[in-house]
Amino acid sequence: MTYRGQKSMVPLQSFYPYLAIIFLLFHVLHLSSIEAQNDGFTIKLFRKTSNNIQNIVQAPINAYIGQHLMEIYIGTPPIKITGLVDTGSDLIWIQCAPCLGCYKQIKPMFDPLKSSTYNNISCDSPLCHKLDTGVCSPEKRCNYTYGYGDNSLTKGVLAQDTATFTSNTGKPVSLSRFLFGCGHNNTGGFNDHEMGLIGLGGGPTSLISQIGPLFGGKKFSQCLVPFLTDIKISSRMSFGKGSQVLGNGVVTTPLVPREKDTSYFVTLLGISVEDTYFPMNSTIGKANMLVDSGTPPILLPQQLYDKVFAEVRNKVALKPITDDPSLGTQLCYRTQTNLKGPTLTFHFVGANVLLTPIQTFIPPTPQTKGIFCLAIYNRTNSDPGVYGNFAQSNYLIGFDLDRQVVSFKPTDCTKQ
Ligand SMILES: *[C@@H]1O[C@H](CO)[C@@H](O)[C@H](O)[C@H]1NC(C)=O
Ligand SMILES: *[C@@H]1O[C@H](CO)[C@@H](O)[C@H](O)[C@H]1NC(C)=O
Ligand SMILES: *[C@@H]1O[C@H](CO)[C@@H](O)[C@H](O)[C@H]1NC(C)=O
Ligand SMILES: *[C@@H]1O[C@H](CO)[C@@H](O)[C@H](O)[C@H]1NC(C)=O
Repeated sequence: MTYRGQKSMVPLQSFYPYLAIIFLLFHVLHLSSIEAQNDGFTIKLFRKTSNNIQNIVQAPINAYIGQHLMEIYIGTPPIKITGLVDTGSDLIWIQCAPCLGCYKQIKPMFDPLKSSTYNNISCDSPLCHKLDTGVCSPEKRCNYTYGYGDNSLTKGVLAQDTATFTSNTGKPVSLSRFLFGCGHNNTGGFNDHEMGLIGLGGGPTSLISQIGPLFGGKKFSQCLVPFLTDIKISSRMSFGKGSQVLGNGVVTTPLVPREKDTSYFVTLLGISVEDTYFPMNSTIGKANMLVDSGTPPILLPQQLYDKVFAEVRNKVALKPITDDPSLGTQLCYRTQTNLKGPTLTFHFVGANVLLTPIQTFIPPTPQTKGIFCLAIYNRTNSDPGVYGNFAQSNYLIGFDLDRQVVSFKPTDCTKQ
């Protein structure tokens, strides 16, 4: 299996569901429009007034049980979809009625029959072949199957409908013929707040490949709030022009191509725990870390993991928990205050990224009272490492596919 969809590759003992809080965010869509045509898509910029300020296309994102959810609207009338944000895969899909096999979701299922702009893609369409798993159904629909690293799976038909985003000025931006999977049979580790998944990889069907060129380039930025941030607090994902990460404190590392264009690989040279430097094993080449918002922890190749693990244990002035088999081999501590742990510096080519315990330790949930666990796991096979969403929190991170770089800027994402 390829690296597409690294979503939750590891069972995470510490991610127990906690009380669901209903989203309070509600965006009113103003109608009246300007239209533009590009590459077969129609973009409609809905404006309240007729000024010419450039909108930055945005979507709110918030944290829920180790994953991050992004809001977009699909259909006519627009239905709010909250989808898991995954830079490690390319397909956008949502659970659709009629449901042959779906996981539980708290919001009603998207019903294609209720959208006046919904269309199934024909399997004769070149769009069907943008996804390598598109096959013809007897009705000539484009059936797809799309799997993830944790064995989650979605099956359904490829479809097009109008998608609507928000913007920095509050004005909705909508585009027609947005391509996504209408998932009629979806299984795996999804939670009831996830109505689907938003693939943000570099491949042709991803959100950024679809909308980037329409809004000033294939680039986007994200600011993920830390784990356990109140679900009502959202930060923003920005797309295209205006999404660049600029200013003081920005560090930048090149994206290194590897296999498919889906994945965002960067090169990690080594890690410092406070002042002690541990190099990446020299037999491991470039493109050794996948930047993946769909995987919560960091996964490191075993040799580097073992050294970082030992040194973190050295630097924390508490006794690790050894009497709780449910924690497995994780490095965990019991403390009623915030955990005081070392600062880790990830030395990427050209970019030193500093991580504090907020980004490296899973804090306690109501179910794991007082227990903090290191959010860095042991990669016991020869697959590349993963720079997961925990470590990405409280950084404004820009993915610029046109320039082939990733930029990091320390930012309090709860205030962004
Ligand atoms: C749904 O997909 C699963 C996994 O591929 C399969 O075992 C099951 O039969 C499917 N269910 C239906 C109703 O098609
Ligand atoms: C699209 O395909 C699905 C699944 O095959 C089907 O249930 C639905 O009726 C189709 N919708 C339209 C508008 O053709
Ligand atoms: C195509 O997808 C539809 C709806 O998901 C399903 O009912 C049908 O069995 C699939 N057909 C093939 C040939 O995969
Ligand atoms: C990482 O995994 C390897 C292989 O399973 C094991 O030998 C090693 O002890 C693990 N490292 C730690 C620190 O648990």
